[in-house]
This record gives sequence, structure tokens and C-alpha cells, in this order.
Amino acid sequence: MPDRPQGYRVPARMFHWGIALAVLLMIPAGLTMTREGLSRPLQDTLFIFHKNLGVLLFPFILARLAYRLTHPPPPLPDSMPDWQKRIARLSHVLLYTLLILMPLSGFTRVRAGGFPIELLDWLGFGPWIGKSETLAKMAQGLHYAGAMCLIALLTLHVAATLHHALIRKDSVWPGMWPPRG
Ligand code: HEM
Ligand code: HEM
Repeated sequence: MPDRPQGYRVPARMFHWGIALAVLLMIPAGLTMTREGLSRPLQDTLFIFHKNLGVLLFPFILARLAYRLTHPPPPLPDSMPDWQKRIARLSHVLLYTLLILMPLSGFTRVRAGGFPIELLDWLGFGPWIGKSETLAKMAQGLHYAGAMCLIALLTLHVAATLHHALIRKDSVWPGMWPPRG
């Protein structure tokens, strides 16, 4: 009998893959727009894309977290050793932490630097954070460190998924991939 035949619920899968797609666009956009020697129009477009998709993503991340806290995930396969289960759970907690930290530090970096966030400005929101070079620098450092941790953790996350899907062939991958059953 397959362990964990149900897997994640449909909303959990939709949150996971929707946010994953957005994050996988945010990371290369962020890394490219901060490179030297980029043409000004391309850099401006990437900044506008990155800032606005990032703030748009934030309510979805909060909704996902609220859903997760009220709907426990399916148990991990019995065949997994305890230490691997502990690492899997810890990595998920860290991923959620970074999903919160990244938009908040990005927002603070931009607002404390005195820059626009077109979507929020268009909606008539105030800046919420006063201009401060010190705060902008701190938030920039945090955003950069968070980005590097996120990239490292996602590499591990995808490698672990491949291991489950291709080598162990257990219920982890079918438990998150869209088709149920
Ligand atoms: C790119 C951004 C991604 C983020 C931020 C992310 C985040 C997460 C988080 C937080 C969980 C835990 C879900 C929970 O228990 O509530 C999870 C589970 C999972 N993710 Fe991702 N993920 C991403 C991309 C991917 C990709 C590209 C793959 C596959 C190649 C993948 C495969 C999985 C699988 C199979 C699970 C289920 C793990 C389990 O059953 O414990 N994820 N992901
Ligand atoms: C899940 C959300 C986010 C992810 C994964 C992400 C990822 C990244 C990455 C990988 C970089 C390049 C590394 C760096 O220079 O820090 C970056 C830079 C940047 N991001 Fe984000 N970001 C997110 C949200 C946001 C938001 C919401 C804003 C602003 C509203 C923002 C503003 C910026 C800015 C201004 C930079 C350039 C930093 C600098 O001044 O050097 N980010 N981001």
C-alpha cells in the first residue's frame, strides 16, 4: 500500500506551484538587474517587474502561510529515516521564513531609499517608511543575504525532490505535483 496516498490538498499544491513560478522569475530578474553594464531601459523594466511582482506576491505568501498553519501537511513517507524527516521539516520552515523576509526586506530597501513602487503608488498607498540611508543599507544587506540563502536552499530542495522522484520513487513527488491520485 502506498504510504501517504493523499498527498497535499489542491489549494496547497496551487499555492506551491504558483509561488514557485513567481519566485523562479524573481530570482533571475533580481540577479540580472543588479549587474553592471546593463542598458538603462532593460534595467528599469526589470526593476519595475521585480518590485511589483514582489509586492503582489506578498499577500499570496501570507495566505499560503495561513492555509498551511490551519491545514497540516501529509506525513512524510515511513521509509524516510528520522534525520531526513527533521531536515525536510527544517528546510520547509526556512523556506517559509525566507518567503516572508524577501518581500519585507526588498520593500524596506526601496522605500527607505526613497524609490517608487509603481503598483502601490498607483493604488494611492503612502510610502509607510521614511527615507533613511542607514535603514536602506541594512535592508539591502539582508535582501542580498536572504537571496543567497534562498538560492542555496532551493538547490537542496530541488535535489531532494529529484532524489525522491527518481531514486526512491516514493510518494513525495506525486504528493505535490498537480494531478492527485
Ligand atoms: C522555487 C520556489 C520554491 C519554493 C519557495 C518552494 C517551497 C516549498 C515549501 C515551503 C514546501 C513545504 C510545503 C508545506 O509543507 O507546507 C515545499 C514542498 C515541496 N516542494 Fe517546493 N518550493 C519551490 C520549488 C519547488 C520545485 C522547483 C520543486 C520540484 C522540482 C519542488 C518540489 C516540492 C515537493 C515535491 C514538495 C513536497 C515535499 C514534502 O512532501 O514534504 N518545489 N516547497
Ligand atoms: C520573494 C520575493 C523576492 C525575491 C525572491 C527577491 C530576490 C532578489 C534577488 C535574487 C536579488 C539580487 C541579489 C541582490 O542584489 O540582493 C534582488 C535584488 C533586489 N530586490 Fe528583490 N526579491 C524579492 C522581493 C523584492 C521586493 C518585494 C522588492 C521591492 C519592493 C525587491 C527589491 C529589490 C531591489 C531594489 C534589489 C536590488 C538590491 C540592490 O540595491 O542591490 N525585491 N532580489
